[in-house]
Amino acid sequence: MQSENNKSVVLEIKTEDELHSAAEQLLKFAGETRNFTFSGEMGAGKTTFIKAICRMLGVEHGMSSPTFSIVNEYIGKNNRPIYHFDFYRIKSEREALEIGVEEYFESNGFCMIEWPEKILNLLPEDRVAINILVENNQRLITFSHE
Ligand SMILES: Nc1ncnc2c1ncn2[C@@H]1O[C@H](COP(=O)(O)OP(=O)(O)OP(=O)(O)O)[C@@H](O)[C@H]1O
Ligand SMILES: [Mg+2]
Repeated sequence: MQSENNKSVVLEIKTEDELHSAAEQLLKFAGETRNFTFSGEMGAGKTTFIKAICRMLGVEHGMSSPTFSIVNEYIGKNNRPIYHFDFYRIKSEREALEIGVEEYFESNGFCMIEWPEKILNLLPEDRVAINILVENNQRLITFSHE
């Protein structure tokens, strides 16, 4: 089931298999926007959804690195880079600046940002915000243009 208005879309997801179609809808919703933030409690499914989106963007391997750094880079269709950030462990926005987030956000690669709450002052203006809410046996995934 899905509800939609001009500004946001809400999807009810019951199984991981449905993330494939959710990823397709998100990319359509995003249009030209290349920066995405993912919010939701620990274990909500942010990384899992990002992986589904990356597969949709043509990433075939290199997605299950055991040691996750703040930023991981994958290559999608047409050699388009996808930068996957996890800011959970950073202590200050300065750490994010030091790894060069501003350059990543201004590049023409895709940026998938977990824990955007940690870098509120650095977020790119044009972005799609994804929120995942775990509810009983399902997840509500909301997309909105910020
Ligand atoms: N849509 C879904 N349906 C069912 N299970 C899911 C779904 N999305 C994720 N999961 C399961 O939930 C667990 C946690 O997922 P994931 O690591 O993606 O969460 P996260 O939000 O990235 O957590 P963290 O905040 O720790 O980074 C995984 O075991 C995954 O298989
Ligand atoms: Mg995660």
